[in-house]
Amino acid sequence: MARNPVQVFSKYNQQYGDTFRFYIGGIKEAIVTINPAVIQHVLKTNAENYHKSEIQVKRMGHFLGKGLLTTEGEAWRTQRRLIQKGFDFKQLEAFSTLLQETLADSFRKFDSQVALGPVDIYPNMMKMTFSMVARALFGARLKDDDIELVSHTISTVQEFIVRQTLQPYLNPWFGVSGQLRKHELMRVRADSILLEYIKRRRHEAPGADLLQTLMDARYSDGHGMSDELVLSESMQLLVAGHETSSNSLSWLLYLLASRPDCLEKLRLEFDSVLGGAPLRFEHVSRFEYATQIISEALRLYPPFWMIDRMAVAEDRIGDIVIPRGSTVIVYVYGTHHASLYWPDPERFDPARFTKANLSRHTPFTHIPFGGGPRGCIGGNFAMLQILMILSILLRKYDFELAPGQAIEARPMVILRPKNGIRMTFLPR
Ligand code: HEM
Repeated sequence: MARNPVQVFSKYNQQYGDTFRFYIGGIKEAIVTINPAVIQHVLKTNAENYHKSEIQVKRMGHFLGKGLLTTEGEAWRTQRRLIQKGFDFKQLEAFSTLLQETLADSFRKFDSQVALGPVDIYPNMMKMTFSMVARALFGARLKDDDIELVSHTISTVQEFIVRQTLQPYLNPWFGVSGQLRKHELMRVRADSILLEYIKRRRHEAPGADLLQTLMDARYSDGHGMSDELVLSESMQLLVAGHETSSNSLSWLLYLLASRPDCLEKLRLEFDSVLGGAPLRFEHVSRFEYATQIISEALRLYPPFWMIDRMAVAEDRIGDIVIPRGSTVIVYVYGTHHASLYWPDPERFDPARFTKANLSRHTPFTHIPFGGGPRGCIGGNFAMLQILMILSILLRKYDFELAPGQAIEARPMVILRPKNGIRMTFLPR
């Protein structure tokens, strides 16, 4: 189970049906489901009764503080309403130039690296998407060194949280051995760097970035967010907004490497929509085929392979009783790979997402961005990130998988490629 929960859950789905009970670590009751009606109930219809799980709130909250990812109820609702403004279409269009400039920097490094031979695309995509979110948050003046330090801190701390979660029996040792303290200090250092930007901005001219949205936001009593809250919300957006997109991009490139027909069609679409111009948010809705490709890659490799919730009160969905306090695991990967909803589910087939086919989908069977009130706030930003990176990468390079590697997915918090994905990039 610890090694590969996807394999175990999928086997149980076959044996016990679309919803089954499971005891985490042999003790804690969990209900695992791929049934879209149950998923819709949990994530949307009765979302009030299903809070984020202890792991997300307690462990992530310890390092990331209070913010969209780790709060519930009224506090969450208010923050969500305020932060949403930073992701509206006008804002995303306003980010476009800054994101293009950031990417131009990233590609200079990428170009010199791929000239030397095959590279693992996963860390490379991570660097690109992290810089994009970081600059969208803190603006053009955010220094490269600071981006690097914060990015390194976030990945190290995230890995530590995963270890704490998967090996809870080691937690006393993490305390005694100084591991916990070491990671806390790293976070304090990253916090202090970002806090300086926040404090400085209070006295500077406004920027066209998410930081400004957070600072300008006002509660009904006229007050704004404290510097500390702006900081923890920023950290949470950084965490939520880079690994997910880089992950999708990595799997997408992997899939495209073996489908020259799709790649060719995709390139034609980029040419016809952009005609060589840099991509901006206003272009995003015109990418019909690219959207199909991205949706299909997210179906096969959903970064959040599961979404977990805790039932606040007992609930009943049809004849399924959900006891108070039990965990409900929405097994996203299982739903995305169920042959009942997706014929020949392992096949990469972007045509599943043509306009005509979209109307045939059962609701809540394609949920890479979750659903209901706590669904992803950054979906449009993610599309902009992915399309922008693709628009440059496909124009510059042909690419192929480096030979002799076994590509395998590893379901941690995010569904990562277990041993990376090595690719060769050849200038076009
Ligand atoms: C392909 C890329 C992405 C995927 C697949 C993805 C997926 C998800 C999913 C499944 C959730 C819901 C989790 C749950 O219900 O427990 C979520 C929430 C969230 N996402 Fe994303 N995400 C992506 C990109 C982004 C980006 C780019 C940002 C921000 C820049 C972002 C910010 C957030 C935030 C803040 C939440 C929490 C929302 C709340 O609880 O109100 N995500 N994401």
